[in-house]
Amino acid sequence: MPLLQARSLTRHFGGLAAVSAVDLSVEEGEIVGLIGPNGAGKTTCFNLLSGFLRPTGGTIVFGGEDITGFRPHQVAGRGLVRTFQLTTLFQDMTVRENVLLGMHLHSRQGLRRLLFGRQIFPPDEVTGSDEVLEFTGLAPQADQLAKNLPHGHQRILSIAMALAARPRLLLLDEPVTGMNLEESGHVMALVKTIRDRGTTILLVEHNMKAVMGTCERVVVLNFGLKLAEGTPAEVSTSAAVIEAYLGAGLQHA
Ligand SMILES: Nc1ncnc2c1ncn2[C@@H]1O[C@H](COP(=O)(O)OP(=O)(O)OP(=O)(O)O)[C@@H](O)[C@H]1O
Ligand SMILES: [Mg+2]
Repeated sequence: MPLLQARSLTRHFGGLAAVSAVDLSVEEGEIVGLIGPNGAGKTTCFNLLSGFLRPTGGTIVFGGEDITGFRPHQVAGRGLVRTFQLTTLFQDMTVRENVLLGMHLHSRQGLRRLLFGRQIFPPDEVTGSDEVLEFTGLAPQADQLAKNLPHGHQRILSIAMALAARPRLLLLDEPVTGMNLEESGHVMALVKTIRDRGTTILLVEHNMKAVMGTCERVVVLNFGLKLAEGTPAEVSTSAAVIEAYLGAGLQHA
């Protein structure tokens, strides 16, 4: 049984079918890419899978359990954790504090900490956060305020916060957006290492070099529908996929 299995996933916004009868499954240990032109429904899929939006139709099974309609903290509590397309950090807290909060964002205790200000974190959590900081390469910036980090490091910090929750499945929404070649190379290497350490990855990204170099399987959305699915090589030579991207490109021209 796949780790994640969405069947006929559907979400309407008024008359718009943002996601339409999409079947999507992810096996444990895979790195799967979810791609498609702007507005194809990728982020909406993430919102549905992570409980931030309720589906209009379809089912989501994660780790053998039907999680359709679950709230975000219930989903995250089961090990399905997402990052956001726009970086969401606690700007006035340090890098280490952000990672510590990442461990608790989905729990009541974490919420209390957020509501009632800075707390002393237990030593085992500090050790855990140091491991995440070391692993993601953010250790030298641990005591800096998040708002003072350059953009690339802020994006990495949002991944570090998600990792702190110890996900079984990590949904990454455009992790290398706005990064230079060196930074995006670092992040994609990090994604592979995260997977090698036991976390399954579903990745939304427009940077095709990053997708094709990292993902073992790619699912393509277009106008809310699943257009194609296969290996990076299969998908990148599919006439339907090329046409969808060309069409999108022409619309934006
Ligand atoms: N909350 C919402 N209310 C109304 N329409 C929405 C909402 N969220 C998304 N949409 C619409 O649903 C469609 C899919 O949007 P979505 O953000 O999922 O696309 P995407 O594939 O993530 O695009 P991008 O690559 O630009 O991030 C778009 O037409 C968008 O305008
Ligand atoms: Mg999006």
